[in-house]
Amino acid sequence: MYKIAVIPGDGTGPEVVNEGLKVLAAASKKFSFKYETKFFDFSGKRYLKTGKLVDDSDIAELKKYNAIYLGAVGDPDVKPGIIETGVLLKLRFALDQYINLRPVKLYNSAYCPLKDKKPEDIDFVVVRENSEGLYKGMGEFKDKGTKEEVAIQISYNTRKGVERCIRYAFECARKRNKKKKLTLCGKTNVLTYAWDLWQRTFNEVAAEYPDIATDYAHVDATTMWFVKNPERFDVIVTDNLFGDIITDLGAMIQGGMGIAAGGNINPQGVSMFEPIGGSAPKYTGKNVINPLAAICAVGMMLENLGEAEAAKAIEKTVIGLVNKDIKSLAAGKMGYSTTEVGDLVVKNLA
Ligand code: IPM
Ligand code: MN
Repeated sequence: MYKIAVIPGDGTGPEVVNEGLKVLAAASKKFSFKYETKFFDFSGKRYLKTGKLVDDSDIAELKKYNAIYLGAVGDPDVKPGIIETGVLLKLRFALDQYINLRPVKLYNSAYCPLKDKKPEDIDFVVVRENSEGLYKGMGEFKDKGTKEEVAIQISYNTRKGVERCIRYAFECARKRNKKKKLTLCGKTNVLTYAWDLWQRTFNEVAAEYPDIATDYAHVDATTMWFVKNPERFDVIVTDNLFGDIITDLGAMIQGGMGIAAGGNINPQGVSMFEPIGGSAPKYTGKNVINPLAAICAVGMMLENLGEAEAAKAIEKTVIGLVNKDIKSLAAGKMGYSTTEVGDLVVKNLA
């Protein structure tokens, strides 16, 4: 019996989570696994009403679950930074979800903005470090508000944190068993402390994986390759901020935020799965947002729980739909409403 904590969140989060849960229910019937859900209201809306974010007792409660399923958090009425750090980053850090796993896979060339790229050209995974780097929140102001002001923001990289992430990425390349290639994406030519540590650690761990080819690309060049030759990638490992940036580009070349899912993984603890797009306030309540990213996040969650067959079936169903029924992955242009897309996945999965 899997215990799943559900955080619908803000904006279109609850709408897409609804569809994801329909698919979860259908998958449990077909593949006979059992689960129960409990809903948690961590959101910008709740913050505006109560001033509450995620606190340590919430974290203690969430640790009793097998997985967390998150829609999206963020409310336009809350000042930027509060919900992000108080909910999303709090969950990632406090649950030590040190990997942010973001597959970039094109399911139908019609949805790719790049010319002449086929599904076999865009099929890679970004392993983003999810607990350190510039996201650590370290830094200070000096002489704030004066003409002499200095703002310092520190990228914090520990040998342990870097190594566990790189190790996970090597394992991922091995498990995928595709090109068996791991690319380190960094900035060794300028950020000479952080990326020296990353490069040294990468080289040392690589010696333990003779079956995996290694490669290096600067982050700026990586964005170029995403557009020019995405087929050169299999698994990419990078730090928190670079991973944040390149995976938005990754989402675009796979067809947009409507299809891009990710997992915040603690291999020894509780992991959290989410569509990587935001709360999309302008589409809220209109039944037009694409729920496929949230549905793919359910697939990733099931894979992580050990229900590989169910995960595969969900992915296969989604691939089938985006190659037949669904006309566009963009909100409002799918040819179906949000709930109809969820129903289609359920029907085709069964
Ligand atoms: C993401 C988001 C978050 C991040 C924000 C909302 C804090 O952009 O999940 O990629 O920067 O990690
Ligand atoms: Mn992001």
